[in-house]
Amino acid sequence: MAQNHRSTENPQGSGAKPSIAILGGTGALGSGLAKQWARRGYPIIIASRSRDKAVKAAEPLRAQLPGAHIEADELAPAAQRAQIVALTVPYEAHHGTLMAVRGALDGKILIDATVPLKPPKVGTVQLPAAGCAAVEAQQLLGPQVKVVSAFQNIAAEKLAADELPECDVLVCGDDVAARDTVIGLIEAIGLKGWPAGPLANSAASEALTSVLIQINRKFGVKGAGLRIVLGK
Ligand SMILES: NC(=O)c1ccc[n+]([C@@H]2O[C@H](COP(=O)([O-])OP(=O)(O)OC[C@H]3O[C@@H](n4cnc5c(N)ncnc54)[C@H](OP(=O)(O)O)[C@@H]3O)[C@@H](O)[C@H]2O)c1
Repeated sequence: MAQNHRSTENPQGSGAKPSIAILGGTGALGSGLAKQWARRGYPIIIASRSRDKAVKAAEPLRAQLPGAHIEADELAPAAQRAQIVALTVPYEAHHGTLMAVRGALDGKILIDATVPLKPPKVGTVQLPAAGCAAVEAQQLLGPQVKVVSAFQNIAAEKLAADELPECDVLVCGDDVAARDTVIGLIEAIGLKGWPAGPLANSAASEALTSVLIQINRKFGVKGAGLRIVLGK
């Protein structure tokens, strides 16, 4: 079942949209991404430690989006069945979730949205020794998995809403083609994705989340985000 991202973009030349499993798709960010991709015709698998929980999370999405292709499954089978996998779990669950799906990801793109927040000081940057969560994922999974980091700086509430936020998404990854595929998935839902360099640069995206949390607090909002402006 393992395929590279090129074949998943266009399996057997069919032009079909790739299926996306969302590990942690029962949560705030994952369910928002599921909704946005599903409404654009991407087959989605909501993945959870509990199949029942995944089934319950899929129900309201199916009700909102009749005709969308939304399935539910446990973590490992969902990762096995999908062509692309997204990871949206709290940092404390990052290592354990990756261990649960390791082996099912070979040859695939893993989109890692994890921010290494360490409660209660979530407004302070606290990056892990490897540099960032996305690099930890790559080290754990090995080079046969194309880890791409994205979505650390977008508020889940905004993705859950019908109107998308006016903010951009930084996309980091060592495999340029995989990074471009993820930018395509971001642009498919109406957001702007920026190629932000190698996976190690995800340290900057992950750190910025604490900066945005501080701005949210200061201005009494929930959805501070980033916008890149190109100079001339
Ligand atoms: N929320 C946001 O606005 C936002 C924005 C940008 C980035 N992020 C980042 O995206 C990731 C997900 O954030 P979120 O707010 O969506 O998280 P969340 O709703 O708290 O959790 C997402 C899912 O992760 C699983 N999970 C939670 N705790 C776990 C644990 N201790 N062990 C194993 N699995 C656990 C649960 O899935 P099951 O129980 O179904 O397995 C849960 O539904 C985080 O790293 C966060 O920093 C969040």
